[in-house]
Amino acid sequence: MDEERRRFCQYAGLVILGTALPSCGSSASTGDGGQLACGPVSASAGINIADIPLNSAMAVTINAEPIFICRDSKGVYALDARCTHVGTNVNLKSAQDPTQGFMCPLHFATYDFNGDHPTAPAPLPLAHYLVCTTVGGEVVVDTQQEVASTIRFRV
Ligand code: FES
Repeated sequence: MDEERRRFCQYAGLVILGTALPSCGSSASTGDGGQLACGPVSASAGINIADIPLNSAMAVTINAEPIFICRDSKGVYALDARCTHVGTNVNLKSAQDPTQGFMCPLHFATYDFNGDHPTAPAPLPLAHYLVCTTVGGEVVVDTQQEVASTIRFRV
């Protein structure tokens, strides 16, 4: 697919989702000098990057998927909120201190604030998705692009 076609597809995908975003293909830092670009099914989280406090986790729905938009000292990241056991939505262990991580209400598996170190019966960490922003700073998540748990959108 040539560059012009790819850009059109990105824009078309955003419009179909009802999210007319002025900046298609914004990117997230991979932390190692590389850049990743959000793709055609990216959708807005309805949050401006500047409004995400340090050590916070906000529950949002993106492309009908439950997501936590989190920020730690390294930047912003998006976690799939579905438990890796059988898919129940996880909750924050503590609303007052999100850095305590997440707990599944069904069989009580826990995850740390990065979605890592799952306890039984959860078999895997929570998935991370690519985070980008529009030129205006609106957070966009690409739920088609799972990324390493170390990747952040640097604020
Ligand atoms: S569904 Fe989460 S621990 Fe079973």
